[in-house]
Amino acid sequence: MRTPVVAGNWKMHKTAAEAAAFVEAVRPVASKVTEREIIIAPAFPALAAAAAAAQGSNIQISGQNLHWESHGAYTGEVSADMLVAAGCSHVIIGHSERRQHFGETDGAVHLKVLAALDAGLTPIVCVGETLEQREAGNTETVLREQWSAGVGGLEPAQFARLIIAYEPVWAIGTGRTATPEIAEAAHAEIRSLATERFGGEIAESVRILYGGSVKPSNFAGLLDCPNIDGGLVGGASLPAGSFSDLLLA
Ligand code: 13P
Repeated sequence: MRTPVVAGNWKMHKTAAEAAAFVEAVRPVASKVTEREIIIAPAFPALAAAAAAAQGSNIQISGQNLHWESHGAYTGEVSADMLVAAGCSHVIIGHSERRQHFGETDGAVHLKVLAALDAGLTPIVCVGETLEQREAGNTETVLREQWSAGVGGLEPAQFARLIIAYEPVWAIGTGRTATPEIAEAAHAEIRSLATERFGGEIAESVRILYGGSVKPSNFAGLLDCPNIDGGLVGGASLPAGSFSDLLLA
């Protein structure tokens, strides 16, 4: 059985004080949730405050990005060890906004995954097609390429430690959620890529999250799909009330 994951990607929202207040507000609800893994991904300056507020709770903290080097002259970047020291257990890698606005490539995703694993972090690796790619009938090819170049070269034991997130770019922040049928088809495709490369046992154990306009009202329908193991949620993860509703959906 795969434990479902509810992960909030806060993107460029919330100060340290706002992050701590959010965690205080969500803790009582989270403490009643035993069948789900709970993760929030604040911006870098809010990580330590969120981690301090979450101490002793079942709320885990994730970075939104990292650099693959351990240290050095990389202005503006943050290493895996720095995330661990700030209280992170997870890190999002290869989000479409990083690919789109900051030129992140599948090669960079691969290096970042290795650095995160080395530091003991759980990578949450994002893949997903744009609207143009979907309409051209290229969804499967795009997913296959991103998956192969980003994580296909890992050792089986490394791959087994990942969480994958399928985030169709056309569904992010648009209010246009993929239907459960569309999402399930992509998730099944991703799991079959994992089966081909790493075998059924590992492929069946890896969680594949859906991301793109997830809300409390559509989350349960997505979670009902056999290959959807949770959500990576942007906008609806920001208000404590809405995030709490997602935990209980
Ligand atoms: P929204 O839930 O705001 O569409 O964002 C999804 C996302 O990008 C999560 O990583």
